[in-house]
Amino acid sequence: MTRDLSVPRHLAIVMDGNGRWAKKRHLPRFFGHKAGVDGLLKVIKACADRGIEYLTVFAFSSENWKRPEDEVSGLMGLVLVAVTKYLAKLAGDGVRIVIVGERDGLSDRLRAAWDEAEQLTQHNTRITLSVAFNYGGRWDLVQACQQAVAAGLRPEQITEQSISAFMAMRHAPDPDLFIRTGGEVRISNFMLWQVAYSELVFTDCLWPDFDVAALDAALATYAGRERRFGGVETRSVEPATG
Ligand code: FPP
Repeated sequence: MTRDLSVPRHLAIVMDGNGRWAKKRHLPRFFGHKAGVDGLLKVIKACADRGIEYLTVFAFSSENWKRPEDEVSGLMGLVLVAVTKYLAKLAGDGVRIVIVGERDGLSDRLRAAWDEAEQLTQHNTRITLSVAFNYGGRWDLVQACQQAVAAGLRPEQITEQSISAFMAMRHAPDPDLFIRTGGEVRISNFMLWQVAYSELVFTDCLWPDFDVAALDAALATYAGRERRFGGVETRSVEPATG
């Protein structure tokens, strides 16, 4: 079956702007994150409906620990509640959940919730949702190199392919499209290795406001881009790396 190349196979999103969304409404930042979870559920469904096979979202970065303690604990609690509340629905909808990031340092309850989410959904095939949690692109590169050394790879065996095979995101092709909401124009240590040839879309829309229409606008922008992967290929050619 041929795939419609105007639709990204893998979409990666930095969900930024929750705090500002709450501030605009004179609400504590927590409510922005809560609205962000609700928005995420709609985006997951819309992506699956549009034939996107992989969706990866940046939910908590290695650097987010620097936030005030009450915001960090609020976010951890929210995520736990969200997993408990929505896991059965996501599992029933054919979503495979994969958690990428450093699990040390997370609470036992959250680790157990992540394990359960992964186990319950491991055979689902409609869409793979990767949740980057306690994740950083540099962390991923470092842990991949550590694994390569531990596996005894010789210098000449260190290649793009062998490093990729040790990355936490090894289960997915590189993202075709990277979206960042919230108005900032930077990568912020998200999937540094994998975004090498991704199309980048930055929008001022705050994450809780990023609805299906905003998703479709970003997808239309992507569909209008010509991808060359450093060469002369066009959209009619499927890249070897996915
Ligand atoms: C950035 O907004 C957003 C975050 C740090 C958290 C995003 C997390 C979620 C939406 C929850 C995901 C939940 C699950 C279960 C996957 P910000 O706080 O930096 O906003 P600001 O830039 O306006 O301050």
